[in-house]
Amino acid sequence: MITRPEIEAAGIASGTDKVTQHGYQRFYAQFLSEFDGNDSIVEIGFGKGNSIPFWKMLYPSAFLYVVDKNVVAKGDGFEVMRCDQSSKDQLASFASFLCDKSVGFIIDDGSHIPEHQLLTFNNLFGVLNSGGVYIIEDIECSYWKRGTCYGYPTEYGLESSKSLIRQFLQLSNWINREFLSSSELNDLKNSLEDTGFNLNVLTDVASVSFAHNCVAIRKGLLSDQTYSSRPYLHSDRI
Ligand SMILES: C[S@@+](CC[C@H](N)C(=O)[O-])C[C@H]1O[C@@H](n2cnc3c(N)ncnc32)[C@H](O)[C@@H]1O
Repeated sequence: MITRPEIEAAGIASGTDKVTQHGYQRFYAQFLSEFDGNDSIVEIGFGKGNSIPFWKMLYPSAFLYVVDKNVVAKGDGFEVMRCDQSSKDQLASFASFLCDKSVGFIIDDGSHIPEHQLLTFNNLFGVLNSGGVYIIEDIECSYWKRGTCYGYPTEYGLESSKSLIRQFLQLSNWINREFLSSSELNDLKNSLEDTGFNLNVLTDVASVSFAHNCVAIRKGLLSDQTYSSRPYLHSDRI
């Protein structure tokens, strides 16, 4: 298990803004606590490539797959492939490629555009190992009301229906769907589908953690499914 000082040291040595700007060392020791370092890591977004030495310092045995819109590269223990995360088809073909890669965690540090973040989550969460974690970084663009990021307009804000935070907050009730009446559950499902979530993907969501500028979604173990498929003990009260 990696510690906060180790993350901090790797961040400073590699120069990734994950530590120098965003301070994700505050959360990642906890978010990645169950990753044993032997499965693959997937990251959306190459930037200047600084996160490659960062992850390799922390997890030398893990193979790292990075995708970016226009970058292709290969090195010791990593590969950078082309994938545009605004394209459902390209994400679906990347997901097929990952099917047999035993993915331990996924980091979305790509365009930071909430529509892309949701589309990417819908397409890639399924390939994550049971018990794995999916982290969406730099959700700050959801709060932006003007300007652009990587050439994409960022007209969102606190009240925007496209805000990733707003959308993922609905999962607090989804995780607790055992306690909803059937009509409340139907309403929630409709709302999640209207938002753009793929309900099949959501079945395995065990927890959602919100932190400063990031969201971490943990996938349950297969054995956890008994908790979401049993009849509710206090159904007479809902
Ligand atoms: C913040 S940088 C990644 C930084 C890197 N992960 C690190 O920690 O050093 C974001 C990257 O996402 C890429 N990007 C922007 N839009 C994209 C898209 N639609 N699909 C895939 N990558 C995209 C950009 O080209 C840029 O390289």
